[in-house]
Order: sequence, then C-alpha cells, then structure tokens
Amino acid sequence: MSIPIKNSHGIAKMREACAIAATILEQLKPLVRPGVTTQDLEEAGRDWMARLGARSACFGYHHGSRRYPAHTCISVNDEVVHGIPSLRRVLREGDIVSLDIVVWKDGYVGDNAFTVPVGPVSAPVEKLLRVSREALVLGIKQAQIGNRIGDISSTIQQYVEANGFSVVRDMVGHGVGLSMHEPPEIPNFGKPRTGDKIKPGMTLAIEPMVNAGAYKTKTLSDGWTVVTADGSPSAHFEHTVLTTDRGPEILTIPRPVAESVSK
Ligand code: MF3
Ligand code: CO
Repeated sequence: MSIPIKNSHGIAKMREACAIAATILEQLKPLVRPGVTTQDLEEAGRDWMARLGARSACFGYHHGSRRYPAHTCISVNDEVVHGIPSLRRVLREGDIVSLDIVVWKDGYVGDNAFTVPVGPVSAPVEKLLRVSREALVLGIKQAQIGNRIGDISSTIQQYVEANGFSVVRDMVGHGVGLSMHEPPEIPNFGKPRTGDKIKPGMTLAIEPMVNAGAYKTKTLSDGWTVVTADGSPSAHFEHTVLTTDRGPEILTIPRPVAESVSK
C-alpha cells in the first residue's frame, strides 16, 4: 500500500489535530507527581480532550476482539506502551511514566508521547530518558525528502545501541492521518538506504520505544499492557512530523491553552 500524501487541506487538519494532542500531553506533565494515580491522569486527559473539542483515538480501538478501555495510554517503569490507567496504580518517586495521547479532530489523527520522571530518578534511568528523547530528535532529522524510512530507523537504532540500550522490535512507528495507523511502518531498527522514499506531504509518527535492558517484550493478561520481558524500565518519545521540501516539521507542538479552549 502506498504512503498517503496530504494536500494543503489535509495538512491544515493535521496541524490542528496534532496541536491538540500536544497541548493535552503538555497539560498532563505537571500532574505527574508522587501519590497521583494513573486513573487521575486518564481523567485529566479525557477532560482536556472534551475541552479542546477532540476525541480519543485510543478509546474503543480494536485489537482482535478487544477494545481499548481508556482515553489515554499510561505506562509506568517496565511498561513499554498501552498501559491501561488504573486507580490502583499509584505513582511513587523514582518511577517513570510514559503518556501517549492520540486524538481525532475533524477526521484527522494527531499522535504523540513522552516519558516523564516522578520526582528525582536514578542516574541510569535519567540517561534512559535523555537517550530516548535524543533518539527521537535524531530520527526526525532523517525525515528529509530523498531519504528513505530506513534512514530514520537505522539512525535511531544506532544511537540507542551505542548508548547501551535496546530498541523495541514488536511495535513500530507509523504513518498517521485519516486513521491512527497508515503506511508506512517506521521501525526503530533497520538499515540505511532501505524502505520507502520520503516525499513531501507525508505525516509520520516517529516513536522510539527504548528499553534499558533487552529488546524483548510481552503483553500482560489484560491484553494491552506491553512490558519488557526482563523487567527493565522502558521509555517512549513520539512526535507526528510533516515532511516538506524545507525539511521535517514537528506538528505535535503544544499551544498556550488560552488560545485553544473554545467556549
Ligand atoms: N500511539 C499508540 C499506537 O500508535 C496508541 C495506541 S492506542 C491503543 O499504537 F488503543 F491501542 F491503546
Ligand atoms: Co503512535
């Protein structure tokens, strides 16, 4: 299947969906504190979606016969992605929390994520967050016209592994737009100069998932929560990026909320 190219209308809609997704993510960040439950973050995320006129793309999302039961994905420590918010999950100092916000707005999807520390974290965990964040930036820089998807993938993999961590293989980044997952797949591992050629007007969700230990993951019996097989902590950073002749443009940039809240 070929990679959808957005026209100026689609790009305008993507800007809006992505700005909303980013604004919600940004609003959740200061709520991440010891004593807060992941359900508290879910409710805040759900409320922001309503306030900004968007809908969760995760809620009711099908995977086989299962439907995702929450509006946000909140993954703690060894949870890689798709953690289901819970009243029983109380955040403690030293934890790390991956927040993944995906919204529909006017028929288009914006997707972004980041991992935040709960208070001070250990030096190795701090390094995990830094390297994962930097891997995303380096991957985005490869989203240049004429490059290939494998240039993004291999750059992320090389940087992460050079720093002693591993990239998750079981889940990948993806095109995003008229649905949450469009072609192409964007693995966080691969070879340079392979895969589809990058052209202007693609909207790509680039999202390194980085484990402190080995890359293997497993899914918990809830059918959603993906955890590291070895119990090591995992980080996740994601932006939706527009490819242009002037280089990659990050669409998931938060706005000041006073500008976005429509009364
Ligand atoms: N950003 C995640 C993804 O691309 C969001 C998944 S929502 C869920 O897979 F419903 F699958 F949890
Ligand atoms: Co995604």
